[in-house]
Amino acid sequence: MEHRAQEVISLCRKLAEFTEEPGHITRTFLSPPMRDVHRELGGRMERQGMSVNVDAAGNLRGFYPARRPGAPRVIIGSHLDTVPHAGAFDGILGVVMGIAMVDALAARQMPFGIEVVGFSEEEGVRFGVPFIGCRALVGAVDEALLALRDPQGLSVADAIRSFGLDPARLAEAKLVESTLGYLEFHIEQGPVLENLNYPLGVVEAIVGQSRLRVCFTGKAGHAGTTSMKLRHDALAAAAQWIAVVESVAESTSGLVATVGRMEIEPNAGNVIAGKVYASLDVRHALDEVRHQAAELMLNRAKQIAAGRGLSFEWEQHLDQPAVAMDPTLVNKLEQAVKSAGYPVYHMPSGAGHDAMIMAQKIPSAMLFLRSPGGVSHHPDENVLVEDVQAALNAGMRFLEQWETRLD
Ligand code: HGY
Ligand code: MN
Ligand code: MN
Repeated sequence: MEHRAQEVISLCRKLAEFTEEPGHITRTFLSPPMRDVHRELGGRMERQGMSVNVDAAGNLRGFYPARRPGAPRVIIGSHLDTVPHAGAFDGILGVVMGIAMVDALAARQMPFGIEVVGFSEEEGVRFGVPFIGCRALVGAVDEALLALRDPQGLSVADAIRSFGLDPARLAEAKLVESTLGYLEFHIEQGPVLENLNYPLGVVEAIVGQSRLRVCFTGKAGHAGTTSMKLRHDALAAAAQWIAVVESVAESTSGLVATVGRMEIEPNAGNVIAGKVYASLDVRHALDEVRHQAAELMLNRAKQIAAGRGLSFEWEQHLDQPAVAMDPTLVNKLEQAVKSAGYPVYHMPSGAGHDAMIMAQKIPSAMLFLRSPGGVSHHPDENVLVEDVQAALNAGMRFLEQWETRLD
């Protein structure tokens, strides 16, 4: 199994070469390098005896048949897209793990089928809204989502069509009725497992997240001839607000809030900013706390804008409730980790995952692998071969539990 773990890591690093930005790892919804990923992973799926298709949302789907036709199936998956300048493991590791587990079966068939899914989009980079791929499996891609436009003015539906897919066939992407459950392997993306010196973590719940886009509108002007007291500087207002966002988060236990993206107009060094768009990402394990914090941050933005003679608008792109993983599967995952000989640690996920959407329809569970240095969404993101090995061992035990139950 050791060589298989090394192969998993090597494949993730090879797939990292499929990028929109040479020298960086950047792969967004249905961008051209996604075709290379489909080709590389689809070929490996076929060599493992899986039937492969790309559904209308751009999800790569490989199906490894059960012993008997018509048997139920389990899904092992994660996402193929990345944030800009990403690491080599966020998302794609979970898809490669699924293929590696089918490989480890060595043509043995189970009383259930195994569907390995590479979701087309989880990060929400291109359209500002995450989870487009997995929403197709739970039937949650609606007209409003299809109409969202990217910075180039292309809609989600346009992106699907230009990839050679047909939005009219999205209904075919839905989960089949007899799907038993969903398992996602993912790097922790934080420091907890490393601090404990544990290879694996069993995810109990995924925190909720709010994603908004705000806009401060002031008055552009000449940097040299406009006195300070006559200014309505949108960037100075946004800067003051960002400091408020940080202080609200620091003073609210368990809350994290981030302003990670800004667009400044006209964005010139000798012009006072007339308009600033900014993202806001707020997360907490309790939805009520998250909602209150977001509302406080928006109210403070309105006050700052009013005090500077600016206007303030905002739009909500996501209000994703916190999601508990399925207790029965969590328990089975715990048994699998234990029987594979590793310490068991239950933990929440501060990062969002496809599992939080899949959990709307089917029992879902996640197994974290330690993140060296707690680093993610960064080129230094890494994973240890012994932890991939541990995850494969535990994952196989997890499948064998399902086998025992269904035999
Ligand atoms: O942003 C997140 O939580 C995840 O990386 N999509
Ligand atoms: Mn991510
Ligand atoms: Mn991820």
